[in-house]
Amino acid sequence: VPPDAVPPSNRPDAGPLTRRLAEEIRASGPVTFARFMERALYEPELGYYARGGGRIGPGGDFFTASDAGTAFGECLARQLAEMDRVLGSPRRFSILENGGGRGLLARDVLDALGRMAPDLRSRAEYLLEDAGEGMRRAASENAPEAQVVVPGEAGTGHVGCVVAVELFDALPVHRVRRRAGRLVEVLVGLDAAGGLVELEGPPTPEAAELAAAYGAAPGEGDEAEVCPRLDAQLARMAAALERGFLLIVDYGYPADELYAPARRRGTLLAYHRHTVSEAYLARVGEQDLTAHVNFTHLLDAARRLGLDELALTTQDRWLIANGLLERFDEADPDRWAEPGRVRRRLQAMTLLHPERMGRTFKVVALGKGVSGVRLVGLRDPLARSGPAGGSV
Ligand SMILES: C[S@@+](CC[C@H](N)C(=O)[O-])C[C@H]1O[C@@H](n2cnc3c(N)ncnc32)[C@H](O)[C@@H]1O
Repeated sequence: VPPDAVPPSNRPDAGPLTRRLAEEIRASGPVTFARFMERALYEPELGYYARGGGRIGPGGDFFTASDAGTAFGECLARQLAEMDRVLGSPRRFSILENGGGRGLLARDVLDALGRMAPDLRSRAEYLLEDAGEGMRRAASENAPEAQVVVPGEAGTGHVGCVVAVELFDALPVHRVRRRAGRLVEVLVGLDAAGGLVELEGPPTPEAAELAAAYGAAPGEGDEAEVCPRLDAQLARMAAALERGFLLIVDYGYPADELYAPARRRGTLLAYHRHTVSEAYLARVGEQDLTAHVNFTHLLDAARRLGLDELALTTQDRWLIANGLLERFDEADPDRWAEPGRVRRRLQAMTLLHPERMGRTFKVVALGKGVSGVRLVGLRDPLARSGPAGGSV
């Protein structure tokens, strides 16, 4: 971290959240990076996600799939319609979106269901959960037909699908490093001038356990992130469902790729105004912090919860299987050049291109009480073996 990127917490221009963190560290000693990240992102009123929906999108700090037009929501609506058929078209089909952010996906899915599957739309209830109060405010405005709730309020006994897009990459992570053959954990403490600073200490048991299980930071000087919070998050999502599916879309890799030499600095990044940096301790509450998901950990956690692994595929394949390209069947060639149509084709490229979102983003489908189900929307026609979705 460049030292000049982190203003000392005791300087008058240090933000209020930096000062609060410094108070905690003065009172009880250095904190784990996960604790720092938790407060930086989710502190009521001051945390990054508490403060408002304008932080995601063109005028904010980063884009997500719903910023590339309505295509992602339309493909998800198609996938949900297939799930509904497999579940026997229940009287009420619940769509439980966790980490629904600004509500753009909720809006697009409900609009698409209204057009493509009116019967399902009439039986669907859309519950959008988000940990950030600012995000919940934005979601209520953007998706008035969704019910916006705080985490834990969605209840249990639902039949339908739990959806989480870019939720797991926003969970607080622990950072570990290999020093003289031993694992150490990155902590956040104070320097002599009172500024937030990275320190190293013995690893917390939960971080050490995950690092050992998945081979994180194998080589001298390597750094990596592990996410003990993943298990509890997935458990909570699964507990809401009586029967149905969990669909998780996020960027990340299986453990052997995530902790490979190519990523020996880890995957943690700070996002501010569409610029990435490693100045994690700067602009506390003003920038996003995010790390890639360990999909091996996610699937292990799913197995421990008794969920069926239905698919692990890439976003490009999942979107194509759910009709992304059929949107461009256009009988009248004169209309191809209309600006709106060209824009939609370019947005599709953002979602599909292997160096944009197409390959780094994975789609995981899990089932609860639906074993043996094979969904067309998750079948990968190119896969030779493995679970329904095939290999990544
Ligand atoms: C990277 S944003 C993605 C938002 C949205 N899904 C999208 O794609 O635009 C992550 C979102 O997850 C929310 N979040 C993080 N942890 C959460 C939790 N435990 N329960 C519910 N929401 C959470 C954050 O507040 C934030 O809105």
